[in-house]
Amino acid sequence: MSTLHISRLTLSHFRSHKRTVIETDGRPIAIFGANGAGKTNILEAISMLSPGRGLRRAKTAELSRAPENLGWKVSADLHSLGHQHQIETAFTGTGTRSISIDDKTAPQIALGRIARIVWLVPVMDRLWVEGAEGRRRFLDRLALSFEPNHGEHTLAYERAMRERNRMLKDGQRDPAWYKAIESQMATSGAVIEQNRLSTITRISAAQQGAETTFPAADLNLRGPEDSDPISTADDLATALAESRPRDMHAGRSLIGPHRDDIHALYTTKGIAAAQCSTGEQKALLVSLVLSNARALAQDIGAAPIILLDEVAAHLDPDRRAALYNEICALGAQAWMTGTESDLFADFGNRAMALRIDENQQGSAIEPIT
Ligand SMILES: Nc1ncnc2c1ncn2[C@@H]1O[C@H](COP(=O)(O)OP(=O)(O)OP(=O)(O)O)[C@@H](O)[C@H]1O
Ligand SMILES: [Mg+2]
Repeated sequence: MSTLHISRLTLSHFRSHKRTVIETDGRPIAIFGANGAGKTNILEAISMLSPGRGLRRAKTAELSRAPENLGWKVSADLHSLGHQHQIETAFTGTGTRSISIDDKTAPQIALGRIARIVWLVPVMDRLWVEGAEGRRRFLDRLALSFEPNHGEHTLAYERAMRERNRMLKDGQRDPAWYKAIESQMATSGAVIEQNRLSTITRISAAQQGAETTFPAADLNLRGPEDSDPISTADDLATALAESRPRDMHAGRSLIGPHRDDIHALYTTKGIAAAQCSTGEQKALLVSLVLSNARALAQDIGAAPIILLDEVAAHLDPDRRAALYNEICALGAQAWMTGTESDLFADFGNRAMALRIDENQQGSAIEPIT
């Protein structure tokens, strides 16, 4: 049984789920059902148990079940490294979502420390060929699983950058103002870059010697115009100060971790991820998530909870079977979705199966085993 897993999950008025309770036994969970049945919604609810906006990056209010729109709640019994926690996140219809751990209000970072959750969703199937933002987000989610402070620094950095951009747009010229705001950007920005770089190092170490069918990917963090990422606060502050005239002209900040890109190479083929076949691109993503899980298992003694939406998409039967074997070997609680139960046949009884249907009440769950 995985050392990090949810044993009971409750969704209340969350999207299509009026009230859904899922009890698990630590095995991976295969959720199947027709299009629109509410499968991804369950994964999204779990993703709200970690810091940030969840796997669809939806607005908090959008998650309230329509037509009532009364707010929503997701709660879980979480087993994390020998401890059991009752975690809950809820939205009452106004303000931001609240978080509580063992009945005490908690900040998002506290959630990140106990609930390490990573995911792959179908929109990421085009991650390597689309814009850099998706790749940054993907790497940042992996970084967050290693470093719970990553999310806080990302927020602090973005807040300071928005302020600086406003000043640039307004034509503000006071150097003292810039210095103050750039120093905040530099402090958080350096942590972000260090976390990203150490995440890549940890993942690459986990790829070496791993017994896996999935292709190793060489990741390379690059700054704007293929520059080296700036990973100390002093250097970043200097670079921001130097960039002011250019930034003022552009009306926004042109350097910093928000401009990074992540290049990936299919190591054994020596081919850039963007040039790989669709299935190979997916295999690279799976490989990175599995390596992340392996590294985390070594670091903290537990693989993260892994959410795999439409897990079988683009994977041939051999790769699919290999993925299931590796999930079981890792002892990770993977929550997976698919339209048919057959897709999960290779698990046998190593996974728990749940069928989900849509009725007048919304999404309804039926345990199979
Ligand atoms: N706020 C909401 N209130 C009520 N229903 C919602 C809300 N948001 C989404 N839905 C409904 O949830 C359903 C989609 O659920 P979900 O995305 O989980 O489907 P799915 O089972 O993953 O389907 P697919 O196989 O197509 O991916 C849709 O029917 C959608 O209308
Ligand atoms: Mg779906």
